[in-house]
Amino acid sequence: MSTMVGTPPPAASREGIRDALMVVDQRTGKSYDIPISDGAIRATDLRQIKVDEEDFGLLSYDPAFMNTASCRSRITYIDGDKGILRYRGYPIEQLAGKCTYLEVAYLLLHGELPRPSQYAEWVREITYHTMLHESLKKFMEGFNYDAHPMGMLIATVAAMSTFYPDARDIHDPSSRRKQAHRLIAKVPTLAAFAYRHSLGQPYVYPDNELSYPENFLNMLFKFPADSYRPHPAIVKALDVLFILHADHEQNCGTHAMRGIGSSRTDPYSAVSGAAAALYGPLHGGANEEVLKMLREIGSAARVPAFIEEVKKGKGEKRLMGFGHRVYKNYDPRARIIKQIADEVFEVTGRNPLLDVALELERIALQDEYFVRRKLYPNVDFYSGLIYQAIGIPTAAFTVLFAIPRTAGWIAQWEEMLLDPEQKIARPRQLYAGEPERSFVAMEDR
Ligand code: ACO
Repeated sequence: MSTMVGTPPPAASREGIRDALMVVDQRTGKSYDIPISDGAIRATDLRQIKVDEEDFGLLSYDPAFMNTASCRSRITYIDGDKGILRYRGYPIEQLAGKCTYLEVAYLLLHGELPRPSQYAEWVREITYHTMLHESLKKFMEGFNYDAHPMGMLIATVAAMSTFYPDARDIHDPSSRRKQAHRLIAKVPTLAAFAYRHSLGQPYVYPDNELSYPENFLNMLFKFPADSYRPHPAIVKALDVLFILHADHEQNCGTHAMRGIGSSRTDPYSAVSGAAAALYGPLHGGANEEVLKMLREIGSAARVPAFIEEVKKGKGEKRLMGFGHRVYKNYDPRARIIKQIADEVFEVTGRNPLLDVALELERIALQDEYFVRRKLYPNVDFYSGLIYQAIGIPTAAFTVLFAIPRTAGWIAQWEEMLLDPEQKIARPRQLYAGEPERSFVAMEDR
């Protein structure tokens, strides 16, 4: 079967259709007008292309969604070729320079920046939902001392759905808002408890006097007998990192959030699934892999040899923290992170692995292999160096990504629920297995 796709004749000659693709099916000789709107055709419009009434109609085949938009969204805009990222229309550079993470979380969920009274109320709601149910704490104690913090986070967020059965009222806006408060507030507490558990140290409870990033650092690093006050530059850097990671349109984790949520499950179960997607080394798990890679390389002098190994690996061995499905230019988040790294290193001392990272970037950006494939540093390339300088163990890096992304996941989930065009997510397949055959009894096989 072949179809021919061509430029449509002038719109005037086809009544009612202004912007359309004319498709001629060479099997039947029939032609079809497929409307184009917002630079896209609707895949379901292809279904009218059939050889006879029995025919199901033409499917589009798009493994890994390389060229398929699954939703309309008003939340995040990315222009991957130009390296542009905006939340609700605001450039990421302006938000990172002028906002707090909680302001950005409000923006993502509500569509507008908060006015002072709205912000005060929002901060109050988040601050007063940071405590965990004591049974959740006991649940965490069941994990082995060396459990991966992401595994613990994924499991405990899922367990939260059993503590808040009201979360199943997903069609009630006030219930949705309450779960949003709880999730944004409690995920940092879960993350900090997971870290303390791995050290065998007592959990530090949230402190309502502290800001969102300060409270998180306090829960991570305060020793019960000592006072602890993180350096303001570290608090600021963490808040900026949270802003940069808050949303990124239809990536793997967000796609999981929408897909799971489309069955109308509660948001805790959906966030747990989204976090599981984030955990993978090709997605949010890359920040952990970057640090392992930089340690393996060890010194700037060994960078050229490593680059050669990556090139010979033909995709099997990758330069972690490089490349992106959407950005074919410098990831704007990586640019901001590189700047804040300098501010953090002024306080903590320079991370010796920075030289290895800078040399990797320098060589890769002029190497034909990376240039031709448009592989640039992504958000994960430099973030791990900052986390390490702050004192966060490598295994906890992806958790630091999951904390702020929770706001984006909830915003995307709510948008999906309120979109009248959305239904349960259920892709089609092209069956490539055996045709019908008769069962063979065990003794005859
Ligand atoms: N190092 C070396 N080669 C690479 C890299 C890399 N980091 N990334 C892509 N390539 C190569 C591929 O081998 C492929 O080469 P080919 O054309 O010769 O076959 C080409 O570039 C295109 O790569 P794809 O895998 O087809 O691109 P895709 O869009 O599917 O992958 C991804 C994007 C997963 C991010 C990829 O670039 C990668 O694996 N990067 C390293 C992991 C990483 O940093 N992930 C974090 C991404 S940001 C985030 O999720 C938060």
